Amino acid sequence: MKILSIETSCDETAVSIVEATGGLENPSFAVLGNALFSQIDIHKEYGGVVPMIAKREHIKRLPILLEQVLVKAGMSPDKLHGIDVISVTAGPGLEPALWTGITFAEELGKKWNVPVVGANHMEGHIASVLINAGENKIQFPAIALLISGGHTELVEIKNWGEYKILGETRDDAVGEAFDKVARMLSLPYPGGPQISKLAQIAREKNLPRNASFPRPMIHSHDLDFSFAGLKTSVLYYLRDNFPNNINSQGKEIMDTDKEDIAREFEDAVVDVLTDKTKRSLDETGAHTLIIAGGVIANKKLREAFGEFEKLYPGLSVKTPTLAMTGDNALMIAGASYINVILYPELLTTPQKIVANGNLRLE
Ligand code: KG4
Ligand code: ZN
Repeated sequence: MKILSIETSCDETAVSIVEATGGLENPSFAVLGNALFSQIDIHKEYGGVVPMIAKREHIKRLPILLEQVLVKAGMSPDKLHGIDVISVTAGPGLEPALWTGITFAEELGKKWNVPVVGANHMEGHIASVLINAGENKIQFPAIALLISGGHTELVEIKNWGEYKILGETRDDAVGEAFDKVARMLSLPYPGGPQISKLAQIAREKNLPRNASFPRPMIHSHDLDFSFAGLKTSVLYYLRDNFPNNINSQGKEIMDTDKEDIAREFEDAVVDVLTDKTKRSLDETGAHTLIIAGGVIANKKLREAFGEFEKLYPGLSVKTPTLAMTGDNALMIAGASYINVILYPELLTTPQKIVANGNLRLE
């Protein structure tokens, strides 16, 4: 099945064409064309994503990216070589941004007479682990830990299409906390990679541990998370120890102070995420652990979850390749492939696709 997919939920504009095979048993994707434009440099100067600017950029970039993937796939707008379905992110995300992709997809669908289906961005992150060259047999039940700039959730997957959110953040998403802490340390957006870099330096230098932050909700009797408190602890630590960026000895905050703070913050995040994930595995007896979303680009987290196969014999841990951690269109094709196999009527009965900023996986 040939799928043309479109992703515009946040600050990445992405289009891809894949040939999907293998069904639900062993879904596999040959990439025929894949294009992505990251708007990060445009939003950077505002310290975060501005929805109306994201919308404007998506509208500008979508036709260019479509042209690129068609050329790459050896297709032309007039000779499509059998695209079976167009898949577009319907949510969650920024609604003005989502609508740009939906409108674009629907116009193409009409022009080419190809069905259009809506995809759940979070199901896309789950499917991102399928975009690789290897075997993709997922043993159920599975657990997915989804960690991005907008979400932090533990999802039980009883089978493809059967999702139950076991726990989620009560306030900030983990990626958002990385971004906000980076901002407090005067580091550019997006903050995750910046914090990670400083934390790594602190470990290499074996810096003394001055900063100490809590592990929020680690002892709570549920699988929920809270990252706003952790972020606030960093704020108070800075306020108490470096008012106006000056310490008690009258010295400005130094790089080593920032490295120490970044390491302690990252360690706190790793502790909370791994602890709650362990609990979800214990409670469900899951055979597969999928960890996906932009934050799993984090090296320390990848290492920590890499240990899980040793801790849980028989458990298969799946993470996306680094290129598939952030938002992209291939993962959206993955989610839609699974959906059209589960619900073939999606291909014959046109659905009205509505952007839903708060779309959930249940
Ligand atoms: O999945 P994603 O690309 O977009 C959303 O759907 O939100 O995730 C973006 C988030 C940002 O908050 C970014 O700071 C974070 O992923 N991130 C990281 C790293 N790389 C990106 N967080 C921690 N460590 C990283 N290396
Ligand atoms: Zn995402």
